[in-house]
Amino acid sequence: MCGISAVVAHQDIVATLYESIRNLEYRGYDSCGIGVVQNGQVVVRKNTGGVEEVNQKEHLTAMEGLTGIAHTRWATHGRVTQANAHPHLSEDARFSVVHNGIIDNYRELRAEIAAQGVAFLSETDTEVLPHLMALTYERTGSVEEAFVGALERVQGTYALAMVSALEPGRIYCGKVGSPLVIGLGQGRNFVASDINAFLPFTREAVVLQDGEYGVVTADGLRLHRLAPPRPAITRAPMHIEWDAETSRKGGYSHYMLKEIFDQPQTVLNALGSPQEDIETLAASVGAARQTYLMGVGTTFYVAMLGQYFFSRWARRYLPAVSSDEFTHLAVPGPEDLLISISQSGETYDTRQGVKYAQERGARTASIVNVVGSSLSMMTDQVILQGSGPEICVVSTKAALAQMVILLRVALALGRQEGHVAQAAHGRVMAALEALPATVETTLNELSGFVRNLANRTAEYPNWLMMGRGPYYPIAMEAALKLKEVSYLHVEGLPAGFLKHGTLAMVDEHMMSLFLVPTPAEGELHQQTLSAIEEVKARGGPVIGFCCAGDARALALLDHAIEMPQLDPAVAPFMSLIVAQLFSYFVALKLGRSIDKPRNLAKSVTVG
Ligand code: AGP
Repeated sequence: MCGISAVVAHQDIVATLYESIRNLEYRGYDSCGIGVVQNGQVVVRKNTGGVEEVNQKEHLTAMEGLTGIAHTRWATHGRVTQANAHPHLSEDARFSVVHNGIIDNYRELRAEIAAQGVAFLSETDTEVLPHLMALTYERTGSVEEAFVGALERVQGTYALAMVSALEPGRIYCGKVGSPLVIGLGQGRNFVASDINAFLPFTREAVVLQDGEYGVVTADGLRLHRLAPPRPAITRAPMHIEWDAETSRKGGYSHYMLKEIFDQPQTVLNALGSPQEDIETLAASVGAARQTYLMGVGTTFYVAMLGQYFFSRWARRYLPAVSSDEFTHLAVPGPEDLLISISQSGETYDTRQGVKYAQERGARTASIVNVVGSSLSMMTDQVILQGSGPEICVVSTKAALAQMVILLRVALALGRQEGHVAQAAHGRVMAALEALPATVETTLNELSGFVRNLANRTAEYPNWLMMGRGPYYPIAMEAALKLKEVSYLHVEGLPAGFLKHGTLAMVDEHMMSLFLVPTPAEGELHQQTLSAIEEVKARGGPVIGFCCAGDARALALLDHAIEMPQLDPAVAPFMSLIVAQLFSYFVALKLGRSIDKPRNLAKSVTVG
């Protein structure tokens, strides 16, 4: 998804605007552009590539202005070309727009506008907006009327910012379906897709809701509903706890590595989510006829692991449904509960799933990382996981925090319904509280070994990632991590599934990686060793992440990473962390763009 940013101030804004769009680059890096109001028109410079690359080509930082907009693109409509990059301009260069979202009726609008003699320069849906505004301005003579008038014609999703040479000191912005937040500074104000854009400059923010628009100047903000009679809205700014430092690399070479090493603190923060909220959500699961766990991509695998926690600790089966398939599969009703999981809180498919459940009377809850995000404002209950900014497109620490919170909820429900004895609850909570220190030590002690193994095996083009029980969803997530950052062909599957078909693919060119449970997990451990034997019998090379001193596993494995022996309730978390680190080092070895893998974006805000 794209990142949009805009700044207005009493002094030159270009350096600030440039830094703010760079802070949003994880939202898309196909092309980038900046537009500033100068001498009665909007001057635009844009090209294909990441922000720094475009600055090399177009000298963005040499531009000047007091009001400007910027954009970093993840292409949906129109190829990755200079013409399709944003900002887009009206023919008279008096209106310029940056947009995140999809305009569903752009073809009709394009035809209607072209019929009035307007020439289009790009293939994008967005370009209809500045042209519509210019045409509406001709009729109304008002920039605000032109802005709102154009939005009234649009169907689809959008978050956009517009500047006009006719009103130099103003930014117009509006949203339906895509995220938009306003940052309030001293004599300098911001509009952006998310708070990371302006976190280094201000921590006072106002979140726009669907169907609202704002007029932002250097000293103020006016908010209105889009629908006539466009009533004014007053909304107090919220103070953002996150600080800019936490959204920097902190000396690590990549955000992915920094965020993997953030995880001791991530677990502490997830353990810091109020017990009262955990108990409330547990009781809601207890009271519900059916509870769905929902996420997509990484958060779907978090939901899958949640299933194992609820069956293990609360003796309940909760279906995990991928957000993109929720409306086709789930049958939520007034007695049901939907727990949605999302790092960004903006993922379109997940918000659509929640809307679908709400329209059918179900109660909804969410586990979310980004404060003030759409999802955190649309569900009946929200648990903020407190993982801090996650900048790398590839989710690591946020996933672990969500898993810890789901384990706490399952444990709480188990205790509420008498399935978990005080002692067992105490044992697992003690294992969770000990986890941050163990993760820290393990990351420091094992990094060299993991890197070494990655360097020796990165050339394998095809991979199978396998686990049993709770290690199965972890294997799916580990496979997704390796795919995302290395672009290798990686398939995740339950180790027991192997002999039912996938084993046919195994030969000396297919690397199999097993997440081996602790020996204390008897049957699960044995079943996993049997699957390893099946691969070995076909001459397939095998890597295993297993417990230190697990002689039976070590005897079978060609390559092993020996992890500390942990309580079985939390041991899968260590396998996840080691798998994240392994994926990082494989991608490093292959020279991949780790924080911004090709073709991906941090939060997917279109369907
Ligand atoms: C994970 O590394 C990916 N970035 C992606 O699968 C992500 O988990 C998915 O798009 C959901 O995003 P969310 O947690 O922000 O909703």
